Amino acid sequence: MVHFRCCFVIFQVLFCIFPVFGHAQAEGGDAKMEAFVDSLIGEMTIKEKAGQLVQIAGGRSITPNSKINGQLEDRIRNGEISSIINVFGAKETARLQKIAVEESRMKIPVLFAMDVIHGFRTIFPVPLANACTWDPEMVEMAARTAAEEATSAGLHWTFAPMVDITRDPRWGRIVEGAGEDPYLGAVMADAGVRGFQGESLFKSSTLMACPKHFAGYGAAVGGRDYDSAEIPYRTLREIYFPPFLAAVNAGAGSIMSAFQDLDAIPMTANRFMLINILRDEWDFGGFVVSDWNAIYELINHGVAEDVEQAGKRAIQSGVDMDMISGIYGKYIENLVYQGLIYEEQVDQAVRRILTAKYKLGLFDNPYQYCDQKREKNELLTEENIQFARLIAQKGMVLLKNENGILPLSKNLKRIAVIGPLADDRVSMLGSWSCAGREEDVVTVLSGIRQAASSKTKVIYEMGCQVDDASLSNFNKAVKTARTADVVILVLGEKGWMSGEGYSRSTLDLPGDQEKLALEIAETGKPVVAVLMNGRPLSIGKLNDRIPAILEAWFPGIQAGRAVADILFGDANPAGRLTVTFPHTVGQVPMYYNHRNRGRPAADNVNHSAKYQDAPIRPLYAFGYGLSYSQFAYSNLHIIPEKPMNEEKIIIKMDVQNTSQVDGEEVVQLYIQDPVAGVARPVKMLKGFCRVPLKAGKVKTVEFGLPVSQLAYYEPGMMHGVEPGEFRVMIGGSSEDIRLQGQFEFTGQPKLVDPATYDFTDVRIFLK
Ligand code: NOJ
Repeated sequence: MVHFRCCFVIFQVLFCIFPVFGHAQAEGGDAKMEAFVDSLIGEMTIKEKAGQLVQIAGGRSITPNSKINGQLEDRIRNGEISSIINVFGAKETARLQKIAVEESRMKIPVLFAMDVIHGFRTIFPVPLANACTWDPEMVEMAARTAAEEATSAGLHWTFAPMVDITRDPRWGRIVEGAGEDPYLGAVMADAGVRGFQGESLFKSSTLMACPKHFAGYGAAVGGRDYDSAEIPYRTLREIYFPPFLAAVNAGAGSIMSAFQDLDAIPMTANRFMLINILRDEWDFGGFVVSDWNAIYELINHGVAEDVEQAGKRAIQSGVDMDMISGIYGKYIENLVYQGLIYEEQVDQAVRRILTAKYKLGLFDNPYQYCDQKREKNELLTEENIQFARLIAQKGMVLLKNENGILPLSKNLKRIAVIGPLADDRVSMLGSWSCAGREEDVVTVLSGIRQAASSKTKVIYEMGCQVDDASLSNFNKAVKTARTADVVILVLGEKGWMSGEGYSRSTLDLPGDQEKLALEIAETGKPVVAVLMNGRPLSIGKLNDRIPAILEAWFPGIQAGRAVADILFGDANPAGRLTVTFPHTVGQVPMYYNHRNRGRPAADNVNHSAKYQDAPIRPLYAFGYGLSYSQFAYSNLHIIPEKPMNEEKIIIKMDVQNTSQVDGEEVVQLYIQDPVAGVARPVKMLKGFCRVPLKAGKVKTVEFGLPVSQLAYYEPGMMHGVEPGEFRVMIGGSSEDIRLQGQFEFTGQPKLVDPATYDFTDVRIFLK
């Protein structure tokens, strides 16, 4: 092992001479735009500048008919408001925009924002489910479709994608992200940003993205939302940064700072993170918005004495826009007059925000997003509904299928659909339902009714509530089950149970649902459990007793159709977990890419990294998921086996569908750096692809692994690649490794710019 310390000095010097060029056209050379923005700033009073840093709310959540009241209209007129969250509709946004651009002195357009997270009116599955597709094109398409709908309703800006890595399923917001892996998280972050923003923000169908919550929010201690994040610096860089870096590199126009403190410094006042990392190291050229009221919360954190000091700390730390605390609007002007902050600092924030408005085309045509005709035509189109069904199918993960009980025949005589989520419309919409409506939802019950043959009788019993054990009525459910050929149990969480502020101390199925499932299992009937939830649940007992389990997540408006497609075999499941399912909550945090340990866990070795009273393995591992097909892997080739300076190492293999059923396999590439200056993960995902394979067919999958993906932070925190052996593991999950090989990087130690993030190329050839 040779270290790369010697290269560091040269690297630092180069860095200082040639700053990395970023994506913000404003700072990169769009002279016309810069001149325009600067001339505007030159004419603005300090009060008007402060106004450009202010976001107000039209409602706490979605209130489609919400009207901004007269007092707020006056504030727009007076140039005191830059952005409005939670107001949408082509007509209403046009009305407010008119006040801004026709009645205010500076005529600066307002930025309309909303949490368009997994669909606008056509609600797609929750982001965690979408990540389980392992299909970035699908994720990009979902964002694109959401952007088309949202922009037709007057919106310019979404607070998405959420790119927080989460290793603790107690944290309710795990539902909003892509899961536990930095590589997959980075791929999905890139897809999300590109999907929302399209090829040019200037187009009226593109929505400015706002990756969030920068950074470490997903590491809340104990899984409690808003709690502190304790993240070692190396882990922060290696695990939590990649999705943000990928989002910045994809050109995200804005970033949201997180609520919590990171190593004792609240992110809203974290200069190191918002300036040194985001601006200086990554060259982020967009603007930073605080989270909801987070500037005020600096007082609660105990890092500001009063609102004025909170405002001062936030702006000095690089927070450009104040989401709803009102502090910037009230105090920035005074802070400048008192000499407590520089006007130039305010100008810088204003410049970034005006630049975003410029790039969105709002100075050209402030009404370009307010087209009522478009709004009427673009929401909930048949095409969008079909896409919602497809992406829902693709993200579902078949966890268990004993004796091939699935797919079911459509000609069964009686199907019993039992469980509190079987006919629950609202929960299907998941955690951020935006403009989605209950009436758009096809529940599992109606999906099964529609899919089964006309001769099949589908009977329904709720059995119990999700979370209110007092309303359980097992007897009726058990009786119904006894009369059926097959029972479909639909269990899980209410939609709101995973999401902001909803942390749980247990991962059990809430209420009496597990008991209900076990009683139904006692009937001896074939039972299929369909789980609908936004986080991994501890379903060990269910797993012991129920022969088939489908993790459907919260699938959006086409929930029932997508579930039925999989249960009856119209779609072959290929979703894979992007989060580890533990046996019990006591095992968390549990993730596949843990480091090599001095005493590796072994079931029969006492003094090893394990529990005495729980298994060392998860119930279901990262990357896991079944199919109705079977796949075989062969012919691994690594070229070259001793790379020196090659940009890409080619890793290729054949994958064959050995079954009679067309299907899709998610081929996963993991590598390990067995000996390094620091303990490295036992496995790291470095590439993947979802390969459609007709029955019997073989395809070659070729990964082009960039050498930069071998980089790590050595003991002195330099980031680079060292010569030595790397192991290659390929398979259908992090535990189902089918092919293994290795290569030896024989080149010189090589520093890798920590602001680059190269993805592994994937090519698929028919054999
Ligand atoms: C608070 C949440 O943390 C954030 O994700 C969201 O975008 C804002 N509220 C705005 O609704």
